[in-house]
Amino acid sequence: MTQDELKQAVAKAAVDYILPMLESDTIVGVGTGSTANLFIDELAKHKNDFDGAVASSEATAERLKKHGIPVYGLNTVNSVRVYVDGADESDEHLHLIKGGGAALTREKIVVASCEEFVCIADESKLVKILGDFPLPVEIIPMARGHVARELVKLGGDPVYREGVVTDNGNHILDVYNLNILDPIALEKSIDGIVGVVTNGLFAKRPADVLLLGTKEGVKTLK
Ligand code: A5P
Repeated sequence: MTQDELKQAVAKAAVDYILPMLESDTIVGVGTGSTANLFIDELAKHKNDFDGAVASSEATAERLKKHGIPVYGLNTVNSVRVYVDGADESDEHLHLIKGGGAALTREKIVVASCEEFVCIADESKLVKILGDFPLPVEIIPMARGHVARELVKLGGDPVYREGVVTDNGNHILDVYNLNILDPIALEKSIDGIVGVVTNGLFAKRPADVLLLGTKEGVKTLK
């Protein structure tokens, strides 16, 4: 199976997983990226079975609307029953690196607001230790130099993601060569740097479920 076929399989599995949760007033949180896009396309087949969605990016909102799925602002809904999103890496504890698509801040906000976080990924994303994928950090633009120097003190090699402006008007540093043995501690440390908006470690609040697309089928990790 190709990587695209594995992504397609987990997108379908995610819809099957959340189907029992869908009621006329259910709000579904929807992530960003190529796997989340496939999930949106599958979810659209059930658009009459739930109220609508909260999107983690402008791109996701646009795709949902194209399918005729109502998109709500997070401040206008009472609860987000479930949030479904991809990841750049996951370890066996479902600690994640996210933000390859630069949507990490809104993703983390929706994760914080949801009742259940379902991560969907192909098997290439499952790693023993996080950090081969450079850790995205969203920063206030004027703080770039300061944050970069602080990240070097933490052992990383930050690289400015040229030409990228997030949906929030901020910039991204991708941090290479971090030895992420304690993801929760590192997430807290980076959050403590003045000028950091969000870092792409999702460890304080990991995924609740990982639907992993493998050549043997979709595996459910909890
Ligand atoms: C978006 O900012 C990211 O967090 C994505 O969820 C992540 O990059 C996974 O993307 P793919 O599904 O395209 O691999």
